[in-house]
Amino acid sequence: MQQNGPIILAIESSCDETSAAVIQKRKILANITSSQAIHEQYGGVVPELASRAHLQNIVPVVNAAIEKSKLNLSALDAIAYTRGPGLLGALLVGTSFAKGLALSLGKPLIEVNHMQAHILAHLIDNGSETPEFPFLCLTVSGGHTQIVLVKSPLEQSILGETIDDAAGEAFDKVAKTIGIPYPGGPLVDNWAKEGNPNRFKFPYPQIHHYNYSFSGIKTSFLYFIQNNLKEDSQFVANNKADICASIQNHIVSYLLTKFLKAAKDLKIKQLAIAGGVSANSELRQQLFELKNKGYKVFIPAFEYCTDNAGMIAIAAHFKFLNGDFSNQSATPLARMPL
Ligand code: KG4
Ligand code: ZN
Repeated sequence: MQQNGPIILAIESSCDETSAAVIQKRKILANITSSQAIHEQYGGVVPELASRAHLQNIVPVVNAAIEKSKLNLSALDAIAYTRGPGLLGALLVGTSFAKGLALSLGKPLIEVNHMQAHILAHLIDNGSETPEFPFLCLTVSGGHTQIVLVKSPLEQSILGETIDDAAGEAFDKVAKTIGIPYPGGPLVDNWAKEGNPNRFKFPYPQIHHYNYSFSGIKTSFLYFIQNNLKEDSQFVANNKADICASIQNHIVSYLLTKFLKAAKDLKIKQLAIAGGVSANSELRQQLFELKNKGYKVFIPAFEYCTDNAGMIAIAAHFKFLNGDFSNQSATPLARMPL
């Protein structure tokens, strides 16, 4: 191992971003992501097209990351890859590439859980304060919504999660209902900036414990739009900002109400958010305001919110220190528990 801590190349290919990062100790030297625009015209990620795009992108993305790090491949101590959860065909590209590279360089392999990595992005050394253990993390992405108790980097347990759709999916479906293209989350966020978050009200799903449900919100939103369009065909066009601000406020309040309940019950004062939806400005703002109530809050830099290999690299860093290596027979997993 290098004097300044392990140097690891990490590869992420679980969905529609092909990404490669180089980390030394807990510092990211390079984090290069290529997003696949091909899916926009289909209104969602098409798995087959995602796999093909990963195949096209992976070599240039890895080369760019190595070049940016100013290191040679020979300096690497290990190669890490996302083993799951995600789209199987997409994961196969990153997994196979990582295995081939590790084999040719004679370096160890490290497999990473994508959801664990979203949370560990908070431990990247970028000059800002990192959470202390134990902390609670609300992980909100296109495929997951989880309240996670983080006892140490590699000890994470789920306290509650969605029983149906994920929060990111809810944002994307809301967007689709009002004609906003995929992925709609960031665009709803933009529209909401001009709107009144209290103009329209939606029902709260009654789900037990720390679990969530978003399918009811999605359906009530659909009926709300359909009913209003019957009376005014220009309803969406004339009220887009208020509609986006109101539904966004509803989703965010719902997420944080349960998250805060868990924090109070467990008497945990350190709160973090992670995953693609943690880029949402309303969620960031409402979490930030909890500082006034005695909580320490951790909001990831935008670069580490949506899928990226930097977060895979930091997870691999802790696994490396733990001696937790993978082998050439590991296969990708569409579902992978924390
Ligand atoms: O973590 P991520 O990049 O991929 C998955 O692992 O799923 O999350 C993608 C999700 C998408 O549903 C996208 O619409 C949502 O994150 N998202 C947002 C925002 N930026 C990304 N949702 C709401 N507001 C945003 N600013
Ligand atoms: Zn993700």
